[in-house]
Amino acid sequence: MNLLIKQTSREDFSITENITREAFWNVYKPGCSEHLVLHNLRKSQSYIKELDLVAIRNNQIVGHIISTKAKVVDSLNKEYEVLCVGPLSVLPNFQKKGIGERLLKESIEIARRLGFRGMILFGNPDYYHRFGFKNAKEFGITTKDYQNFEPFMALESFENSLIDVGGRFIEDESFDVNEDKLNEFEKQFPYKEKQVTDTQLEM
Ligand SMILES: CC(C)(COP(=O)(O)OP(=O)(O)OC[C@H]1O[C@@H](n2cnc3c(N)ncnc32)[C@H](O)[C@@H]1OP(=O)(O)O)[C@@H](O)C(=O)NCCC(=O)NCCS
Repeated sequence: MNLLIKQTSREDFSITENITREAFWNVYKPGCSEHLVLHNLRKSQSYIKELDLVAIRNNQIVGHIISTKAKVVDSLNKEYEVLCVGPLSVLPNFQKKGIGERLLKESIEIARRLGFRGMILFGNPDYYHRFGFKNAKEFGITTKDYQNFEPFMALESFENSLIDVGGRFIEDESFDVNEDKLNEFEKQFPYKEKQVTDTQLEM
């Protein structure tokens, strides 16, 4: 497929927020909040412009991925810089064509080039295992609340690059969404109906 992956330009910030909204809408809950997360990540200290990427097909943006700075903090409060991957979004009509795969592979490559030691995310293990992501437990990394579960995964950038890293994963505070701010932010977008769906019930 003819697909170009490139850094997101500032003019495409709102289009990519809308793509994120379209991709996540009603998938994990009625409506979604990932477009506000993306909006806030871009204004945060965690933002890395080289890891804010779009997928373009026939001059149309059809997918987007962002990875931002995050940290793992050990019991002695020693901090290790890592990347947090997501949101990753492909427009519903363009899904299952390998676009998500291209975006993620390019991000992994850029993260290596920039020298980040690893990437961490919450997602569907069936999807992310094929890129080498493993349960974060294997690296001694837990969530902020000391939890481990299959959808919480990590990927080493280089062999053993997470071997010395262990502790709680702390991502940017943009991921903590305030419902009032979300309702306010939603007013900028075309109306979409919030629905309870089967995919939410499976989660
Ligand atoms: C998750 C998401 C980003 C994946 O993007 P995508 O472009 O659909 O993913 P890919 O095409 O790379 O892979 C998806 C599937 O299509 C298959 N596939 C890949 N290339 C394909 C091709 N050329 N033809 C047919 N199928 C293909 C993959 O094997 C994979 O199969 P699976 O059903 O076993 O998982 C996308 O579905 C999305 O935006 N979902 C909503 C938001 C979301 O959940 N984001 C991720 C949160 S963790």
